[in-house]
Amino acid sequence: MIEELKKLKEQAKQEIERIKNSQELRDLEVKYLGRKGELTNILRQLKDLSAEEKKKIGQLANEVKNDLVEQFCQIKIEVEANKKREEIDLTLPGQKFARGRLHPLSQVQYQLEDIFTSMGFMVLDGPELESEFFNFEALNFIPDHPARDMQDTFFVEEGRKSDPNNRLVLRTHTSNCQVRAIKEYGAPLRAIFPGRCFRHEATDACHETTFYQLEGLMIDKEISIAHLISVMKTLLTEVFKKEIKIRLRPGYFPFVEPGFELDISCLICGGKKCPACKHSGWVEILPCGLVHPNVLLAGGLDPKEWSGFAFGMGLTRLVMMKYGINDIRLMQSGDLRFLEQF
Ligand code: FA5
Repeated sequence: MIEELKKLKEQAKQEIERIKNSQELRDLEVKYLGRKGELTNILRQLKDLSAEEKKKIGQLANEVKNDLVEQFCQIKIEVEANKKREEIDLTLPGQKFARGRLHPLSQVQYQLEDIFTSMGFMVLDGPELESEFFNFEALNFIPDHPARDMQDTFFVEEGRKSDPNNRLVLRTHTSNCQVRAIKEYGAPLRAIFPGRCFRHEATDACHETTFYQLEGLMIDKEISIAHLISVMKTLLTEVFKKEIKIRLRPGYFPFVEPGFELDISCLICGGKKCPACKHSGWVEILPCGLVHPNVLLAGGLDPKEWSGFAFGMGLTRLVMMKYGINDIRLMQSGDLRFLEQF
């Protein structure tokens, strides 16, 4: 029996090595380890042996059995792995990778940056947490001027403690960058400043507490309203790629003189009046004007030598008009059904 067991072990080893698929594996398992299998047959004969032989041969038979079980386990792993490989259908279409996309605000912002850099403007940044000085004082807002309320400012507690005369605010407009840029770069200067602004407002279809503006500033010798209008026209034609109706009316901002409000006819309702244009048919999008001499002085420039224009485009509203978005609250909703349309 010892010989028989050794022969069986050797023969099984050779056959296991030749296994190619799970069917052959199953057949061989039954052949050797099954209830009527070859090893089981040998084990059945143990009962006829003497106690001493039973112990010796029984031990060997168990070793052979454990060895076979181990080999079958190993080959099972290999066969499974191969099966997985065989199951891959190369003719199936590949899995689609979910790709992100740019938010419509970023898309239009980048488009505007291209337009302005082609006209020689730099693209600059400014702080969202700003001092009262750059947000108001440097822009010719006198202390306690009611115009500060005009922009429903968020004041920051910590800033109040550190310097009560120059508190920190969440910037209410990108105009905070004007005097910073003049101080840093001097004149002549052409720059735009896209960015996020914050106001404590009740939200509706055209107002948000957090929204984007794109400020523009050009300072040179003998800058006039003609320069301002020419740049505004180029900008709107490039963004909308079609004729749009605009109107220019006087507007008051302490940092420009004269100041204007440039509105566009609402592209959501075609000027027929809707919530997106506050039922006026017009959307305030581009306040602008010639830089006030006090702003030039705050930046260290001589107003007798230099002049300039500035504008503060409502970027979020411009994007709404470009894509026909009828509610500003969709812009920061994070709703994929909205975002995936751009
Ligand atoms: C200003 O913020 C001035 N700094 C603009 C300026 C710059 C004038 C340079 C002259 C020279 P105003 O408060 O009107 O202006 O805001 C500018 C634009 O931002 C508005 O026309 C509007 O399009 C947009 N805007 C203002 N408040 C909100 C709001 N709550 N939600 C969405 N857009 C807003």
